[in-house]
Amino acid sequence: MRNLIAAVELIDPLQVYGRVAAVSGLLIEARGGLSHLSVGARAEIARPRGEAPLPAEVVGFRESRALLMPFGAVEGVAPGAEIRIAPEPASVRPTLAWRGRIVDAFGQPIDGQGPLPQGPVPYALRRPPPAAHARGRVGPRLETGVRAIDAFATLCTGQRMGVFAGSGVGKSVLLSMLARGAACDAVVVGLIGERGREVREFVEETLGPEGLARAVVVVATSDEPALKRRQAAYLTLAIAEFLRDQDLHVLCLMDSVTRFAMAQREIGLAAGEPPTTKGYTPTVFSELPKLLERAGPGPIRPDGTEAGAITGLFTVLVDGDDHNEPIADAVRGILDGHIVMERAIAERGRFPAINVLKSISRTLPGAQTPPERAVARDARETLSAYADMEELIRIGAYRAGADAKVDRAIRLNPALEALLSQDKGERTGMEETFARLAAVMDEAGAP
Ligand SMILES: Nc1ncnc2c1ncn2[C@@H]1O[C@H](COP(=O)(O)OP(=O)(O)OP(=O)(O)O)[C@@H](O)[C@H]1O
Ligand SMILES: [Mg+2]
Repeated sequence: MRNLIAAVELIDPLQVYGRVAAVSGLLIEARGGLSHLSVGARAEIARPRGEAPLPAEVVGFRESRALLMPFGAVEGVAPGAEIRIAPEPASVRPTLAWRGRIVDAFGQPIDGQGPLPQGPVPYALRRPPPAAHARGRVGPRLETGVRAIDAFATLCTGQRMGVFAGSGVGKSVLLSMLARGAACDAVVVGLIGERGREVREFVEETLGPEGLARAVVVVATSDEPALKRRQAAYLTLAIAEFLRDQDLHVLCLMDSVTRFAMAQREIGLAAGEPPTTKGYTPTVFSELPKLLERAGPGPIRPDGTEAGAITGLFTVLVDGDDHNEPIADAVRGILDGHIVMERAIAERGRFPAINVLKSISRTLPGAQTPPERAVARDARETLSAYADMEELIRIGAYRAGADAKVDRAIRLNPALEALLSQDKGERTGMEETFARLAAVMDEAGAP
C-alpha cells in the first residue's frame, strides 16, 4: 500500500485538459476539459520539436471554448496541440535574500547573480487585499527625505499615494530618491512597461547600488506580452506582502499603473470585452482597486498584533498633461492622496518638479504637529499668493506695495523654491525640513 501511495505521489500533477482549437492574433481558443478551468487558471501549451511548452493563462470563455493568452510569442502553437492545466494558482516563494535582486514577472532572476533562494511559504500572485475590518490603520508619519513631500504632503506608513506626471518630468528620479532615502525597512520597485534601455539606466544609475541593496526590483518591459506586464504588477505586490508579513515596513513603488491598466486593456480587448472610455475595458476599472488596495496597513493577526505595512506610491502617466483622463481619475479615487509633478516646473529647472499646491495627502492632518501645520499652511498660502499673481509679476505689471501679502510672497519665493528643489543625491530629515521651512517663513535674516 505504502509503495502504491509513493507511486501515486510521483505522478506529475499536470494533466491534459484540452487542445488548441484556434489561434487568432494573441488569443488561443481551447476545447475539451473546460469544466476544470476558470479565469486566471494557468496552462501550458505543448509545442512541437522539443520546444519548451508555452505558458498561458485563461482570460475568458466563449460558448464552449476557453480563451487563453500566452506569456510569450505564439509561434509554434498548432491546432490540436495539448494544453495542460497547472493545478495550483500562480505563486512565488520569496525570501529576505531577494533584496538586492532583479526579477522578471515570474520571479526569475534576470540580474545574472545566480539562482534565487526559495522560501517555505507560497505567495499567490493574485490575492485579495486584507479585509477592511481586519486591517490596521495608517501608522505614524513616514520620513521620505524629500523636502517637498515631507513638508507639504507628509505621508504616513501604510498610505497609498499616486504620483501624477507626464513623461520625462522626473518620476523615476523621484522614486529612486524615495527608494534610497525613505525611512522604511525594505523596498519593492515594480517597473511595468518601461523601455528596456530605461530599466538598465534606472537600476544602474538612478537607483544605484545603495538603493538596490534594500530593494527587490520587478521588471516587465514594454516589449513583453501584456500578460507578463500585468503579472509583474501582481508580483510586485506579492513580494511586498511577503516582506510585510515579516513585520517589515515596506515601501512599494510602481512605475507605472497606467502601463498596468494598458496591459489589462489589451487582455480585455483580446478576450472580447467592450471598450468604454478611451478604449479602456470594464475590467481595467475593476482590477485597479484590487491591485492598489493590496498596499496599505497590514492585517491584524488573531493574537492582536499587526503585521508590517505597505506604503505604496504608484505613478500615473498624464499624457498631454491631461490630469482628467480615465486612469488618472480612477486612481485618484482609490488612493489616499496624490503628488502632482508638472512639466512647466521641470522646464524651469526646479527638480523634483512637484507642484505642492496641487499635491494632497489625505492623512496630513495627523502627520504634522500643530506648529508644523501652521508653518506649512503659511508657506502654502504664500506660494499660492505668488502663483495667483505670477503672470502679472513676470510682465512687471504688479506694483510693489499694492498688497502686503503678495509683497511677502515675492520676497519669500526664491527661498521657498530653493527649499523645494533638491538634488537626487540629497536627503533631508523631516525635522530639518520643518526647521528650514520655519526659518524661511520667519524671514530670518531677510532684509
Ligand atoms: N532631482 C533632480 N535633480 C536634477 N535633475 C533631475 C531631477 N529629477 C529629474 N531630473 C532630470 O529630469 C530628467 C528626467 O527624469 P526621469 O527620467 O526621472 O523622468 P521620468 O518622468 O521618469 O521620464 P519617463 O516618462 O521617460 O520615464 C532626468 O534625466 C534629469 O535630467
Ligand atoms: Mg521614468
